[in-house]
Amino acid sequence: MPLSLTSSRACSDDTVCVIGAGYVGLTTAVGLAEDGRHVRLVEIDEVRLQMLRDGRAPIHEPGLDEVLARVLRTGHLRVVRDVDEGMDAAGIAIVAVGTPPTVDGEADLRYVETALAQATKAAAEGAVIVIKSTVPPGTTARLSVGRRHSHNAPPLVMCPEFLREGCALEDLRHPARLVVGGDDRSACERVADLFARESARTHITDSTSAELVKYGSNSFLALKISFINELAQLCEATGADIESVADGIGADPRIGRAFLNAGLGYGGSCFPKDVRALENVAAYHGQSFWMLKAAIDVNAQQRRRFVGKVVTALGGSVDGRRIAVLGLAFKPGTDDMRQAASIDIIRYLADLGADVVTTDPVAMERAAPMLPGVAMVADPYACVTGADAVVIVTEWAEFRALDWERVGRVVSRRLVVDGRNCLDGGDLARLGYTYISVGRRAQAPD
Ligand code: UDX
Ligand code: UDX
Repeated sequence: MPLSLTSSRACSDDTVCVIGAGYVGLTTAVGLAEDGRHVRLVEIDEVRLQMLRDGRAPIHEPGLDEVLARVLRTGHLRVVRDVDEGMDAAGIAIVAVGTPPTVDGEADLRYVETALAQATKAAAEGAVIVIKSTVPPGTTARLSVGRRHSHNAPPLVMCPEFLREGCALEDLRHPARLVVGGDDRSACERVADLFARESARTHITDSTSAELVKYGSNSFLALKISFINELAQLCEATGADIESVADGIGADPRIGRAFLNAGLGYGGSCFPKDVRALENVAAYHGQSFWMLKAAIDVNAQQRRRFVGKVVTALGGSVDGRRIAVLGLAFKPGTDDMRQAASIDIIRYLADLGADVVTTDPVAMERAAPMLPGVAMVADPYACVTGADAVVIVTEWAEFRALDWERVGRVVSRRLVVDGRNCLDGGDLARLGYTYISVGRRAQAPD
């Protein structure tokens, strides 16, 4: 449906330009192409660009490679280097570039502003530009003000992303809700049409409220995690069982069981940076967001407390001990190492003199430059061989499914310290293990 004619070009919402092929941009582009839209995906990183052109996703995301190959073959997706080429005839442009944290914890908006300027310059008349990157409240409104003076600058719409890594395609196909924010109603409705799904209630609001829905959602989930981790500490002091407590609390529909899994705390590209960025924004407005400060402190403490458990379990010192760390990625289902708990835990153990060896089904390549000198082996059985302790950091299904009898034959000591409560302590105790976890009683060998 041609919307308007500039002197030379027509643009249509069936043609979409996505700028930035990261976890969000790539998944979004592939999902829209799968829906039958004509999508141009712009990526400036040469290595990623070449991989994508070869039909290989530069990130590990279940199911993504297959759909990527398919939409490249049908021509619904084209990967380009230049924004100009990407914007050609596009009715809707989506900015999904990174907003990494600055040293002070603020969101670095340089990439968003650059991509926005390029898209604005190349936009056909009648186009709409969507910001999908996570930007502090007020950013879209501030960027819109500057544009009001140039008469045919495309309207800006904020449409925050709620994809979870490891199930991003699933979340794109079946979102729980769709949030769209902006002061141009018809532009918001066009964006709502683009992402509309039966499963999702659409919430159209102003851009600043939409930005705060994103930060608020991530921060509230992070708070839930820090709350259950603090409760887990109390369970250890009182002899209660955090899994049973979480089940009981989570059975209340006003609370819900989701995101009440005690463990090593939250990591990843979003929660740590978004909680800090929101706390920063509040401080900028003269507000102390106490709950966020607490969530951040509890999260950092959780990793240190866990290493303390390993030290205690090994009699007060890990110096010269061989410790097998199972799991590097910040969670199962992804190779993303951003703010992964494994980095802190391995560094703390190594600083205490431990001889650490680690493994992960998919994240070792990304982890290696972040953990120089740390031994990494692909085979989990080789990883645990000779270990004085086996430490679980990421709850991959592969680790749950290990033959723990076989593990028991190759370790130096049958000791498991589980940072994700993902194993059955009773089963391990029956196999002669000492099993220690988070917020639950330790299990001694039968
Ligand atoms: C992004 C945002 O960073 C984050 O704020 C939001 O919460 C989710 O979406 P992610 O997809 O994980 O996160 O970003 P990242 O993995 O950093 O990918 C950004 C991609 O954009 C990279 O491939 C980068 O090379 C590319 N990029 C960056 C461009 O193509 N053009 C640019 O101008 C800048
Ligand atoms: C998150 C949000 O869920 C998603 O909506 C948003 O778009 C991006 O940020 P993601 O970072 O992929 O997604 O991971 P998520 O599954 O939310 O887990 C975040 C962290 O919390 C992980 O480190 C995970 O291990 C931890 N977590 C999660 C817990 O410790 N306990 C829980 O109960 C749930």
